Amino acid sequence: MLWTIFLLLNGLLILVLLYSTRTRRKNEPPLDKGLVPWLGHALEFGKDAAKFLSRMKAKHGDIFTVRVAGHYVTVLLDPNSFDEVINDTVRLDFARTRKQHLRQIFGLQLPSMEPTAQRRWMEQHFRGLCLSKLSSSMTGHLQSLLLSDHKDCGPSEWRQGGLFSLCYSLLFKAGYLTLFERRDNAEEVYNEFRKFDNLLNKVARDSLSREESKTVNSSREQLWKLLCPSWLSGGSETSSWQQSYSLFLQEQGVDAEMQKRALLLQLWTTQCNAGPAAFWLLGYLLTHPEAMEAIKSELRCLHFQENPTINPLESHSTPVLDSVLSETLRLTAAVMINREVVQEKTLLMSNGQRYRLRQGDRVCLFPFLSPQMDPEIHQDPQIFKYDRFLNEDNTPKDKFYKDGKILKYYTMPWGAGKNMCIGKEFAVTAIKQFVFLLLTHLDMEMCDPRDKLPPVNPTRYGFGMLQPDGDLRVRFRLKTKSYEM
Ligand code: HEM
Ligand SMILES: *[C@@H]1O[C@H](CO)[C@@H](O)[C@H](O)[C@H]1NC(C)=O
Ligand SMILES: *[C@@H]1O[C@H](CO)[C@@H](O)[C@H](O)[C@H]1NC(C)=O
Repeated sequence: MLWTIFLLLNGLLILVLLYSTRTRRKNEPPLDKGLVPWLGHALEFGKDAAKFLSRMKAKHGDIFTVRVAGHYVTVLLDPNSFDEVINDTVRLDFARTRKQHLRQIFGLQLPSMEPTAQRRWMEQHFRGLCLSKLSSSMTGHLQSLLLSDHKDCGPSEWRQGGLFSLCYSLLFKAGYLTLFERRDNAEEVYNEFRKFDNLLNKVARDSLSREESKTVNSSREQLWKLLCPSWLSGGSETSSWQQSYSLFLQEQGVDAEMQKRALLLQLWTTQCNAGPAAFWLLGYLLTHPEAMEAIKSELRCLHFQENPTINPLESHSTPVLDSVLSETLRLTAAVMINREVVQEKTLLMSNGQRYRLRQGDRVCLFPFLSPQMDPEIHQDPQIFKYDRFLNEDNTPKDKFYKDGKILKYYTMPWGAGKNMCIGKEFAVTAIKQFVFLLLTHLDMEMCDPRDKLPPVNPTRYGFGMLQPDGDLRVRFRLKTKSYEM
């Protein structure tokens, strides 16, 4: 008996050693396992991925492999080599990790569904006529929410609030009213969603405390209930985006329970980025007076009163606002593009080096570090420069270089390739419209002019738009005369 236990333990020990003594083979990227067995660098990665990966980049260069919670992840930080990863859909796979995430975060399993079917459906519904209908509905909702928010205040009465809450709640509710069916519960859905969103990074990393796990579970249940329209349980005839989506899932053979759960995934995908983006944009404007002045003088030239039925943002180009948006997203959009190596691959870097990637490992691109915050590409990358994406003649600047080579990817807030954001045009229109409405209808200033933008919440690197730790206090009131800036 003792012998058996002894042998078993020995066997286990050898297995653990074999597993943890992975060494770098010829032509593989530098390997950094970290000191903790199995976990490797997981804690540092979860705490502040940008800081950790910068440290690794300084130590190893543009490509290296780190151990994170049992996985070996090869991180590639040379944007000129990104296409090698983005284009290879044979040896690198994203469906499996995605499936796992959907189950873990949204309790969602879509077994029979072809993985690209959903994407194709979405693309159809955020394009052409559908897109312009959605965008004009969004503009209408933004306007009425903004004005109804102020209907009980006199015109010269200042109100105070946090800029992040203001932006997130307005854009969320307008987006919800545009895409989803129920009109009566936007506020409730928003409040519940924020609880869920706040814990999302922990759900994804599987590091919830018991208490948090309970909160997430109850939030999720609550949202499934709130999002579920009457017709899912056999109701009326309408034709909203939400209804076409549920019909599509039905046709794909997805059962009623999973249809209900898929709505929360869509709520998250469509609503979690625009609000935070608008916050950073306005925050940068409020803390950079020269940028605010440039925007206002551009908007003043739009001649809105000419014809009130024409939307001035549709009929005029706004290169300064576009540059401000690009610059904001460069500083605050932090997606990670992950793939699983399903067949051994040789990765050819732009400098001619070749690296072997092992089957079963993962590959990760983190465009936030490079190109977006790369000092070789963008001078003083930490600094907000409103005209960074403008040429001298006020045309959009799209030529950036690294090592003397022109870059295809000089900023990547929307991802790339097969995973690129489908709602990009919708989002850009909505954010610009929101900023336009706010600046033309409200006077807004910081409560304390010496305030600075709050720092980034470092646990959210990798989850799309960053969010602030804290908020920026602002006061605002309805303008006595709209459009006077
Ligand atoms: C500033 C705003 C936004 C940013 C920065 C952003 C960014 C992204 C990124 C990086 C992805 C790829 C995610 C990945 O690779 O895993 C993505 C996917 C997507 N986004 Fe956006 N997004 C924004 C707003 C929106 C809006 C407003 C909508 C729709 C109303 C939208 C709809 C989608 C959809 C449908 C996908 C595809 C998800 C999939 O492949 O299943 N996005 N977005
Ligand atoms: C990747 O695909 C894009 C677009 O299809 C193409 O322009 C590019 O040359 C490809 N790059 C590589 C390295 O395969
Ligand atoms: C939350 O739900 C998950 C999956 O449904 C379950 O495994 C977990 O035990 C639940 N957590 C709590 C605290 O109830």
